[in-house]
This record gives sequence, C-alpha cells and structure tokens, in this order.
Amino acid sequence: MADTRESWQTRLGFILAAVGSAVGLGNIWRFPWMASENGGAAFLVVYLGIVLLVGVPGLLGEFVIGRRSKRNPVGALSSLSDSKGWSAFGHVFVVTAVLLLSFYSVVGGWILRYFGASFTGAYFGNPGAYFSSINYGFEAVAFHVLFLFLTAAIVGFGVKGGIERATKVMMPAIVVLLVGLAAWGLTLDGASAGLAFYLSPDLGYLQTHFLDILPAAAGQALFTLSLGAGTMVTYASYLGEDRSLPVDGTFIAGLNTLVGVLAGFVVFPILFALGSGAGQPGAGAVFVSLAGAFAALPYGQVVAVVFFGVVALAALSSSISMLEIPVSFLVDEYGVSRRKATVAFTGLFLVTGSVNALSAQVFGFVAGTLVNLLLTGGLAGFLLFTGWVLGTDAVAELRSGAGDLGQRLATPWLYAVGVVLPLFLVFTLLSSLLPCSASNSGRAPSSRSPSASS
Ligand code: TRP
Repeated sequence: MADTRESWQTRLGFILAAVGSAVGLGNIWRFPWMASENGGAAFLVVYLGIVLLVGVPGLLGEFVIGRRSKRNPVGALSSLSDSKGWSAFGHVFVVTAVLLLSFYSVVGGWILRYFGASFTGAYFGNPGAYFSSINYGFEAVAFHVLFLFLTAAIVGFGVKGGIERATKVMMPAIVVLLVGLAAWGLTLDGASAGLAFYLSPDLGYLQTHFLDILPAAAGQALFTLSLGAGTMVTYASYLGEDRSLPVDGTFIAGLNTLVGVLAGFVVFPILFALGSGAGQPGAGAVFVSLAGAFAALPYGQVVAVVFFGVVALAALSSSISMLEIPVSFLVDEYGVSRRKATVAFTGLFLVTGSVNALSAQVFGFVAGTLVNLLLTGGLAGFLLFTGWVLGTDAVAELRSGAGDLGQRLATPWLYAVGVVLPLFLVFTLLSSLLPCSASNSGRAPSSRSPSASS
C-alpha cells in the first residue's frame, strides 16, 4: 500500500496545509470566547506559555509519529507498536475528530451565513436577536450542511489536488486580509482599551484563578495548534524524510501564533470601539459583539464582508484537516478509495453535526469541556507513545533531515515529551476535574471588565 500512498508535492505545500489547519476558528472565534471567560490578558499569558513549552515539542511528537509510520493515527500507533492496546487507543482519535468536525462545521455554517448576511446587512439592525434566530435550529443545520459539503469537496480531491492546492491560495489571502483588518481596527477610537484588555494581564486575577485558567488555556493552545486529535500525525505522514521537522514545526507554530495574535488585534479593538467591552460571552461572542460593531462603525459593512470571508477561508482550511483524519483511517486501514471514504464520513457528519446544530446544550458541552478534555488526554497519549514506545527511534526520526541544532535538541526533547509534558497534561486534566473549576465554568465573563482596568 505504501507505494501508492499520497504525499505533498512541495515543502511549502505541507507547511501551508499545516498552518491552514492550525489557523482557524480557534484563533478568531474560540480564542476570544475562552479569553473573555478567563480574564483576557491573564489567559493570553498562560496560553502563550503553553503554546511555546508544550505546543511546539508536542507538535514535533505528532510529526515524528506520522512521518515514522506514514499512516493515519490508528495505523500509526498499531504499526509502530504491534500492540492491540495502542491500536485500540488510536480509535479515540477518530472519535475526537468526529466530535471536532461535528461542532466545527456548525460554526462554519454560522460564518457562511454571516458572510452572506453581510452583503445585505441583515444582522445590522439587531445583532443579538439575529444570532439567536439562526444559531440553533433547522437553518443552522442547512448552513452546517453547506459548510460540510465544501469541506468534503476539497478533501475528496486528495492531498495534492485538494488540500495542498486549496491551502496554497487560502493562506496568503488570509494573512493579507487580516493585516488590513488589523490596520483598520487600530485606527478605531476604542482601540487602546481593547488592546489593554488583550495585552496587559491582571496579575491578581492570574493568581487567584490560575487553576481555572490552566485547563482552558491548555485546551485552547492544543486546539489552535490542531494537537491531540491526530491531524498533525496525518499531515506529517505525507511527508518525506528530507524535511527538518524542528524547523517546519517551529515555523508552523510561530505563524499560527502570529495570526492568532493578529486576529486579537482585529477582534478586541473592534469590540471595545463600541464600549461594549469583551461583550457577549460564550460561543456567540464574535457573532453578536463583532457583528454589532460592524453595524455601527464607518465602512463596517465592507469590513464585515472581508472579515467573514477571511474567517470562512480559515475555517475551511482547518475543517479539511479534521475530515482528513477519519478519511485517511479508512483509506489506510481498509483500502477504501478516498472518494468513498469521504462520502461515508460526510454522511456521518450530516447526522452528528445536525445534533450540534439543533441543541445549544450539546454544542456547548462538545465544543468546550469535552474538546478540552479529549485534546489534552489525546496529546498526552501521543507523547507517552513517543517517549516510551518509540524512544530512540523517535530521536532518530526527529534527527532525520534536521540541522545541527535539531540533532542536539533531539535527546532533551525526548525527555520532555516522554516525562515532563505528559505529567503537565495529566495535571491539567485533573485540575479541570476539580470542583472549583466546575462551579466556575459559568462565571461571569466580564469579571475583568476593560472599564475597570483602564
Ligand atoms: N486548529 C484549528 C483552529 O484553530 C482547528 C483544528 C483543526 C483542530 N484540526 C484540529 C483542533 C485537530 C484540534 C485538533 O481552528
């Protein structure tokens, strides 16, 4: 099977696809949601620390597993270990991917909806009421289906012809448009208050709420880097031995963080320009507050069209990486054709996504708590596998194609991913199960309001 397996055409193609996976609704929609519920800049600090110290080495762990095995997450764990237990564990990732895309494509549907509505200004009159009228229900199902079909169309065309070709166009477009939007955002009146909420951490809040911030920040850091579900295993499985994983990995994480921070420069000034602060909490944050801001600001309608267009592209380049996990699983493990595998899973997502599109409760639980837990546990599993099953093979794999620095860092890296990071991730998981976190999960999000701090 190995000789017919697909691969990336170019190095840039792989990098852009991986960045495309990383940059998505996580940066633009989920980040402001999580940040506004967890103290703004205090959250940003913990989150950036985890991206750097856990995200980058973790990303390399997934890359090593993928490139070593040249398989999907299930096949990777079973072929590299010869163990039924690991193979069974691998199936968790297929489940995680299914859960991820099931809610992600609902949000993707909202974005498409808002993109269309920006042309007519449909939500300008009353953004809050508009969002409540479309967020859950049959129309949400319809737009989820549209988003899902777009995702499936790209994945159906394969690694080179679909994913690589699409992300090569989408990624540069996203960056250029975001820079333009950020420049516009910084000219707004409320920009400095927005930036203060976003950039200057309240250390007191950080101290008293650290154990609440931790699981949310860890979940968000993994979410934004597409870690813990096997996306990066899968993408690296299409990679040759001549690429430097440390260089590519650092570049990918760096670019994702840059785009994420850049998105903050767009989102927070716009939110604060109207004096609405971090605004509407929860999953509707971007939709209600931002949409309201577009309605009121100069050139708001043009900006809205561009903004939701960018977000739609970013969402698609991520959703394809979620669908690619189960599709590559069927292709590798059962010899099913890519087209058939894509159709089969699209059928499944029609159902599982609709459940999320119909129920705010299901959606909130899956997209928040459950995803934080699964990604954290999933990455811990991958890293334990890297450290304890692959061991020196992982070091050899990381060194292959890597320069001097990569050669030297490989062994310390193995200790980090085998011991330190899993301990950290397990601690994070436990802290999220502590009663204090549970009781706080519905806490008022603007407890740290911008007006109080500026
Ligand atoms: N990183 C993407 C975002 O920020 C979402 C994503 C794509 C993802 N693939 C993933 C998240 C795999 C977790 C696991 O929007």
